[in-house]
Amino acid sequence: MTKPVLLVTRRLPPAIEARAARDYQARLNPEDTPRTGADILRLAQGADAILCCPAEKLDAATISALPASIKVLGTFSVGYDHIDISAARMRALPVVNTPDVLSVATAEIAMLLILAAARRAGEGERLLRAGQWSGWCPTQLIGANVSGRRLGIFGMGRIGRELARMAGAFGMIVHYHNRKRLPPELAGNAVWHESEDSFLAASEILSLNAPGGDGTRRWLNAERLAKLPAGAIVVNASRGTLVDDTALIAALKSGQVAFAGLDVYDGEPRLNPDYLTLENAVLLPHLGSATMQTRDAMGNLALDGIDAVLAGREPRNLVR
Ligand code: DGY
Repeated sequence: MTKPVLLVTRRLPPAIEARAARDYQARLNPEDTPRTGADILRLAQGADAILCCPAEKLDAATISALPASIKVLGTFSVGYDHIDISAARMRALPVVNTPDVLSVATAEIAMLLILAAARRAGEGERLLRAGQWSGWCPTQLIGANVSGRRLGIFGMGRIGRELARMAGAFGMIVHYHNRKRLPPELAGNAVWHESEDSFLAASEILSLNAPGGDGTRRWLNAERLAKLPAGAIVVNASRGTLVDDTALIAALKSGQVAFAGLDVYDGEPRLNPDYLTLENAVLLPHLGSATMQTRDAMGNLALDGIDAVLAGREPRNLVR
């Protein structure tokens, strides 16, 4: 029996490429060349399925121009804000993603950003690497404890809940704002705020963990930043589009936000160059899910979903 054709847009972990090559006529990308929508349309001719990545924009025009042979679109990510889901629905194209398996790794990066921002780890490392460390002194790079402080989680989904669990172990007091209040077995000790204003006022440390897309675009704007306690810490390991960069940069300069830790950027890999000039910002290059164990699990889950659709089964990771 001929194997179905799978277009894989970027290089993937070796175990995942090996599985793709075993089960499919896999069109891999060993050079890891970034793909545009036009590249995807060209390379997808005659393919049955596509496994894409969050850096590729599959807008309505691209989705509607995909060859009719494409029966399923997988994304190597939990986020699917790069895919026009309504356009996929319009042409009855199922989309599968990678929920759950990256929650721990992404929450770890959010926790790392909280600690690195609060304890000025980026500044310390830069000082050392620049050969400017003159030795221990009682007043150098004074940060703030996270223990005993209120952490406000905006978006208490799977990743937000993992972060809440980790933050609890660090002695933080977790508050959250979500569309809906979580049942006690999911919320644990976290304090729900129906009102955005009371949530922001409580958030000494604010972590953004909500999905990207139109509903959250530039959610963290000047007005909301002004409602945080003075000297707050802001971290973002979700999507850069949640932040109004101009407003956050102004707040970092004025001290309204004392420190920020960012893993994601609006328009990444380009980021607002002002961030690079700010000592009080810790900046990572979208490392949320970047552990081998997690990336293997993501690849396997995405392939499970593609396999299921092509075999006529309902995938457990269907985007609805
Ligand atoms: C995702 O899965 O959406 C992440 O941003 C990739 O790490």
